[in-house]
Amino acid sequence: MTVVVLPGDGIGPEIMREARRALEALVSLDLVEMPFGASAIRSHGNPLPDETLAACRAAEAVLKAPVGDPEFDAADVRPEQGIIRLRQELDVYANLRPAWQGEIDLVIVRELVGGLYYGARGVREDGTVFDTCEYHPRQVERVARRAFELARLRRGRVTSVDKANVMETSRMWRRVVTEVVGDYPGVELEHMLADNAAMQLVERPERFDVMVMENTFGDILSDLAAAVTGGLGLAPSASLGDSGPGIFEPVHGSAPDIAGQGIANPAAMVRTAALMLEHGLGRPEEGRRLTDAVERALVEAPTPDLGGPATTREFGDAVLRAL
Ligand code: NAD
Ligand code: IPM
Ligand code: MN
Repeated sequence: MTVVVLPGDGIGPEIMREARRALEALVSLDLVEMPFGASAIRSHGNPLPDETLAACRAAEAVLKAPVGDPEFDAADVRPEQGIIRLRQELDVYANLRPAWQGEIDLVIVRELVGGLYYGARGVREDGTVFDTCEYHPRQVERVARRAFELARLRRGRVTSVDKANVMETSRMWRRVVTEVVGDYPGVELEHMLADNAAMQLVERPERFDVMVMENTFGDILSDLAAAVTGGLGLAPSASLGDSGPGIFEPVHGSAPDIAGQGIANPAAMVRTAALMLEHGLGRPEEGRRLTDAVERALVEAPTPDLGGPATTREFGDAVLRAL
């Protein structure tokens, strides 16, 4: 099995090193590193070079560390454009972002290849700049089905998040989600406005099971869900389509403020590798073992973001000992 590894920017290479060590201890994989993000802009003038895209398409899965570099924040060609395009090229429309701790156990299903991120954009003659939120009902239907299927394997509750009190796309979203739930007897659907959902995630996060929402809402609320379940350093994600390779990437970014210091928390990246074993490579047993090993390492070797003294490497060592 071939996995394309995109080591990313900032803390990316540091946390990817630990994820690779854990994977290599568990399963036999062909891990192929390809240029991507800021380093690919420097070497190829393109954050997603053709050879990297071709390798991703041909692989069983893509394991990606965060990208983003302050050097390119104001540039026309930016590292983030690479991931936006790769998600679209692989059509990984369902981004699963689980968050759990104590009584909290929820999954945000973020629509990943539509909405505000991919709608028409530009500059008008008068200088007005615009991004638009666009969805076809088919795009809503397929991600809603993913959320209902997931809920059937869990506690059977789906919260669909929107701004149907304001936005046309949200009214259509609500209509389609309500139609589709009829095919999933036993699954209970509720609708919630996005601003209220943000408040409830802080006040009563344990009330949620599966949440499904537009791309931008999912981006914002998944950082919030991470924050109430231990922090961004813990939050993994899996981006899945109908066929072809998934992209597995942590929720957090390249953390330029702590890059190069060897203190980044690799837990989100290692948990992401576990999601890849489960959802991308058909190895749920090994995925579970890796997730359990991270739990042990979080107790034994917490990194500074969790108030502990451990380095990135020491956390990785603790994962290997637990395995
Ligand atoms: P960020 O997620 O990189 O960092 C936010 C805060 O959380 C920082 O204080 C950082 O130190 C901390 N943090 C994040 N991950 C951590 C970890 N594993 N261990 C310890 N602390 C951690 O968000 P930002 O600063 O807004 O963005 C930085 C860059 O990352 C930007 O260029 C952005 O575009 C990019 N980004 C990329 C991805 C991705 O590739 N999936 C996701 C989010 C942001
Ligand atoms: C994420 C990130 C990305 C997003 C950026 C880096 C394009 O914030 O994966 O959450 O906004 O989707
Ligand atoms: Mn984000």
